[in-house]
Amino acid sequence: MDSIDRIEKTNRVTILAIESSCDETAAAVVENGRNVRSNIISSQIDIHTLYGGVVPEIASRKHIERINQVIAQALDTAGMTLDDMDAIAVTYGPGLVGALLVGVAQAKALAYAKKLPLIGVHHIEGHISANYIENKELEPPYLCLVVSGGHTHLVNVQDYGVYQVLGRTRDDAAGEAFDKVARAIGLGYPGGPKIEQAAQKGNPQAMVFPRAKVSGSAFDFSFSGLKSAVLNYLNGCQMKNIPIIKEDVAASFQKAVIDVLVDNAMQAAEQFHADKFAIAGGVAANTALRTCMADACEKRGIQFFHPTPILCTDNAAMIGAAAYYEYQAGRRDGWDLNAVANLKLGDTC
Ligand code: KG4
Ligand code: ZN
Repeated sequence: MDSIDRIEKTNRVTILAIESSCDETAAAVVENGRNVRSNIISSQIDIHTLYGGVVPEIASRKHIERINQVIAQALDTAGMTLDDMDAIAVTYGPGLVGALLVGVAQAKALAYAKKLPLIGVHHIEGHISANYIENKELEPPYLCLVVSGGHTHLVNVQDYGVYQVLGRTRDDAAGEAFDKVARAIGLGYPGGPKIEQAAQKGNPQAMVFPRAKVSGSAFDFSFSGLKSAVLNYLNGCQMKNIPIIKEDVAASFQKAVIDVLVDNAMQAAEQFHADKFAIAGGVAANTALRTCMADACEKRGIQFFHPTPILCTDNAAMIGAAAYYEYQAGRRDGWDLNAVANLKLGDTC
């Protein structure tokens, strides 16, 4: 290493990040939180599709089988080795406990063997931080709507690592509702992309499904009533022998979800005088949601940010992005870091 390389290296923090909270085994190498050197995702979708949803035991077993190769591929693609890393980061919650444990054990083993700092990352913080990767200018404070298979959170990102949860779902997550409705109309798993595809050919005004308001909290969400309304509609059609037009059901359901998400998001933006708004999580890959959020933000003079679709769904690059700011804040975890299935945003281990 010559002296210029050495100066550059001292200013550069390179993190190997691992994500295994659900059904994606993922590893990434990220520099300074925003520059992705590699982002490897091994999806288990094909296996879980056979069962119509994620089977936790199978997910854990597949993570064990794949994690070594995924990490090796992430380092290889980055053109680096573990000796080039400054820290090892890993998702430690929330998620499926058996799945999380595989990543946590692997990260601890690597950090211990290489005498590297270990940083446990909150999965939702990872989703939010995916926005930093492509939006180099984005810095807190801003508001973020996190919509995934397990979570629906409206978050005030006050600073790096400082989150105020303004609202959350009282029952199903938005992605969960997409998955359940897709299964009910026979579109299969994962439901989000399938509903989006079908909705493009359907009429969003064909059925009027409910837009739930949660009493007592302006920013909370509820999707179970909407899901039941769709199921009741489908049962009614079957009983009366009325043909079901899947595309119309998909479009009307998707519109109902988007209306509620955008409405709550914009109420929060107005109340908090937000000038920047971001979206994150698997459902943020939905083009109709992105378009509606972009329009609503534009009308109010708010700058709108979103990650590219591959960084919306689960990946390790977002964990590396979040970990960089934890690293800079001096946060390190010990060998007692454990998987926490129901970790709340703002909790620490
Ligand atoms: O963030 P993610 O990969 O995993 C969790 O942390 O839960 O999100 C997965 C969820 C699934 O429910 C999936 O159906 C949904 O995101 N999803 C979508 C789309 N792509 C994925 N929902 C709506 N439209 C999409 N294009
Ligand atoms: Zn996720």
